[in-house]
Amino acid sequence: MENLLKAFHEILRKNQREIEGYRFTVPSSKVYPFQWLWDSCFHSIIYLSLGEVERAKEEIISILAGQWENGMIPHMIYRGSFKKHRVKWNTTKNTSSITQPPMIAYSVERIYRKTDDKNFMEKVFERLDKYYSWLRTARGDKYLLYIEHPWESGQDDLPVWDQVYRKEDPSSKTLRSYKIKILKGSFRFKVKSVLFNSVYLRNLRSMSFLASAIGLSEKALAYKQIYKLTEEEFRKDLLDTEMGVFFALHENKHIKIKTANIFLPLFAKMLKTEEAKQLIEKYLLNEDLFWTKYPVPTVSIDEHSFQPNRYWRGSTWININWFIYKGLKEYNFDDIAEELRQRSFSLVSKSGFHEYYNSINGMGRGPDDFVWSGLIFDMN
Ligand code: GLC
Repeated sequence: MENLLKAFHEILRKNQREIEGYRFTVPSSKVYPFQWLWDSCFHSIIYLSLGEVERAKEEIISILAGQWENGMIPHMIYRGSFKKHRVKWNTTKNTSSITQPPMIAYSVERIYRKTDDKNFMEKVFERLDKYYSWLRTARGDKYLLYIEHPWESGQDDLPVWDQVYRKEDPSSKTLRSYKIKILKGSFRFKVKSVLFNSVYLRNLRSMSFLASAIGLSEKALAYKQIYKLTEEEFRKDLLDTEMGVFFALHENKHIKIKTANIFLPLFAKMLKTEEAKQLIEKYLLNEDLFWTKYPVPTVSIDEHSFQPNRYWRGSTWININWFIYKGLKEYNFDDIAEELRQRSFSLVSKSGFHEYYNSINGMGRGPDDFVWSGLIFDMN
């Protein structure tokens, strides 16, 4: 544990930046040298669990500095290095033009619970409120949200998205060209992702909590109501009643690929205890589906698209394990949570702080200086 912490602090030291007056941490100096939205939310949580409260706040402040006037928080902020990046975002701003899973209110709730710092909360609340209302208007049909780009999912290459572009071009083997087409506006991508909406649900609860903590009781109530309506729609639209799992929705149809996202409603705490129990027994602990030596693969083993070594296609990601761990704890499945914590720890001890891992043999994949794998320190 001590060696692991030492190695992690070394990575943090290398990945911390101070640019244009903002202090933040890049996901990996080797491969991801900018600021990313949900990464920074995870970084903030990691800093809190390491006792570095100021750093935790700075991740949030620097991310909010990139917020657009309309309320959108972009998924990438460049700060001076825009030219180095190839993607054309259709904006003159030094940011991307799409968002990422809305984890920020949860991170702020964690900061508040640890510090009781009302000043900080008052400083950020209005901006958060603007972001969550932007999500409702720009990404909402009724209550559930859709994403407009695979990158908004945070799970860039999940095979679920293949189904969307293959409808347009069944012979196509690669998602890459579609990602660019979407940004140019020549291909419409509109999917209700289970992870994105689970994160959103959990964060609506955080917003309600934060509002009431600073005395905005009407706002708190409004968020509670939105939560309730969103939860109802989540169940109605995304649940496959036969299988007892939630699937992404595209053009009113489920995309029936079993991914680790089926466990995200645990994090949103929207399942009944019996449903949670069944989900865990039938799917999570099933060695033919998700319980590999180094769980939890992003795609179930029995799916055609399962590839244990590939980016989001069946490899193991520590942030996904963290969501599942927190979800298990919500339902008091402490032993299983502990088992997942131990396996995640042994994965990182064996292979280092990689971006992701082979879910069968535990080999590190992607850069080895990746910050959010430090979420193992928040599995407690
Ligand atoms: C990749 C991941 C995305 C992450 C980014 C930076 O694009 O898919 O979720 O935010 O890298 O780490």
